Amino acid sequence: MTVTAVAHPNIALIKYWGKQPLPGNVPATPSVSITLDSLTSTTTVSASDTDQIFLNGEATQDAKITACLEMMRAEFRISSVKIESENNFPTAAGLASSASGFAALITALNTFSDLDLSIQRRTVYARKASGSAARSIYGGFASLGGPDWIGRPVLERSEWPLKVVIAITDENRKSVSSSLGMKTSEETSPYFDAWVSSTAEDYAAALEAIEARDFERLAILSEASCLKMHGVMQSSLPAMIYWRPATLSCIHAVRDLRRDGTPVFFTIDAGPQVKAVCLPESVEKVEAVLGNIPGVIATHTVGLGEGARLLES
Ligand code: DP6
Repeated sequence: MTVTAVAHPNIALIKYWGKQPLPGNVPATPSVSITLDSLTSTTTVSASDTDQIFLNGEATQDAKITACLEMMRAEFRISSVKIESENNFPTAAGLASSASGFAALITALNTFSDLDLSIQRRTVYARKASGSAARSIYGGFASLGGPDWIGRPVLERSEWPLKVVIAITDENRKSVSSSLGMKTSEETSPYFDAWVSSTAEDYAAALEAIEARDFERLAILSEASCLKMHGVMQSSLPAMIYWRPATLSCIHAVRDLRRDGTPVFFTIDAGPQVKAVCLPESVEKVEAVLGNIPGVIATHTVGLGEGARLLES
């Protein structure tokens, strides 16, 4: 039997950065995200004599996928499998391929191995594999918060159909993985504790802003969460400076646009790309402004996507 699942990356508006000292990859901060459309991870699981992993057609010994299989096998009977995963966007360049990849893998394994997991339990296993993957189980707006650290749906994509203009400023693979980066921040950033203690309030306020469709409020909260997280990254030892010069130019351009009345805000994950979140009527203007910034290689405009799902063969 062969099972294929697809999932999309998500971008956090209130960020997850840092882990609690507990088993099961429990985040130190609650997060809220939007799942994107167009960018897709497609993962196929099939029977095999030994475990084999292929990423974008190339055989690999991916440590996180191997760890994910081990974690699932500690609880379930899962035979040897061949896992083939394809991304239609750059892997590990700050476009959250681990979120979509693990959301698709857990969804495919659930059916392949007859695990019969509820959607909430799928978010838990996705989170154990990679925290942000819990949120890609859902489409639209999703959250991951305590005390149970289960992923939850917040709004359907049709309920507030925002757009995201992604400005690509560097296509190289990022040098520091999120897991290692978080550990470095936990151990060395003097701001880490303040980051963790201040995020609960941001999270609650962002959920309210989303519920009220209050774009301006969500813009302020999202940019603040992004800059606080990057402040923690940049104050870690060694410092993680993910931005390229064009990343900073995009930040200024987005702030200028909003000051002049265009509803748009930026967010940036552990990479150099800028995601400008806007209302549909502002897409053309945002694309034109960001596309003209020296160092911006390309822009891609996407909408909000569906959650992880099986692909009918
Ligand atoms: C900056 O989910 O990739 O994108 O749990 O260690 O796999 P692991 O980390 P991961 O970290 C995502 C960090 C982030 C912010 C976010 O998506 O909330």
